[in-house]
Amino acid sequence: MGRGVARVRGTEVAYDDAGGGEAVVLLHGFPFDRSMWREQAQALSGTCRVVAPDLRGMGETPLGGANLTMGEMAEDVAALLDELKVERVVLGGLSMGGYVAFEFYRRFPARVRALVLADTRPQADTDEARRTREETARRALDEGVAPVADSMLPKLLSEDTRAGRPDVVERVRAMMLGTRPEGAAAALRAMAVRRDQTDLLASVDVPTLIIVGGEDPITPPSDSEAMGAKIRGARLVRIEGASHLSNVERLEEFNRALGDFVNGLSS
Ligand code: MLT
Repeated sequence: MGRGVARVRGTEVAYDDAGGGEAVVLLHGFPFDRSMWREQAQALSGTCRVVAPDLRGMGETPLGGANLTMGEMAEDVAALLDELKVERVVLGGLSMGGYVAFEFYRRFPARVRALVLADTRPQADTDEARRTREETARRALDEGVAPVADSMLPKLLSEDTRAGRPDVVERVRAMMLGTRPEGAAAALRAMAVRRDQTDLLASVDVPTLIIVGGEDPITPPSDSEAMGAKIRGARLVRIEGASHLSNVERLEEFNRALGDFVNGLSS
């Protein structure tokens, strides 16, 4: 797997790039980094090119001077693709990555060959959720990301995963602890002001795969079902035994769903 850094829009976007052929771009969630897609890149790179960036402020990509929004992150992805000379992609995002994917599709629909929306939802935050985000942002800045990670972990991973997969628990925790407090705070504030994307769904006219962990309490299956009903022809795969990080918790099922979808796209 190749690693690259692209100087775009006042920052340096770090990314992994593996395989060749049809490009699949995978956007990570919060507060994670591109390494969450490691197994998906391994599984897919035999048949396509998989590009996974660290979104601005997370992983190895510095925040730069930007006032972070989902739109800024979508523009970063477009600029990265320009650098890589890739015009059209299968675009996948998990949770916050999905929020960015919506914003990318709204701005650059012609660049999207197909969509993968994993453990995400189109709705904006409620006022209460916005308040909680701000409290969490302040906590990350004051106390570091460890208390934020501790409070999130039980929601991110299913009971099965937490009880029986210490390796996965450790991996997810380490990924969260690697997030810089200022990056975490910026992403929380960006999610708090993200727009409602529900109106976009009826205009989506590319093949769409929705994947959700059956026990996801953050973006629950009911949200995925409602979203799927609004996107013409969307395919919904529910992964039992997984919570919010379905791609890390149940990678075989996730990779099968993703691989069947991507490899089944007609050219
Ligand atoms: C994520 O996984 O990206 C976040 O949990 C999304 C959110 O908090 O809305």
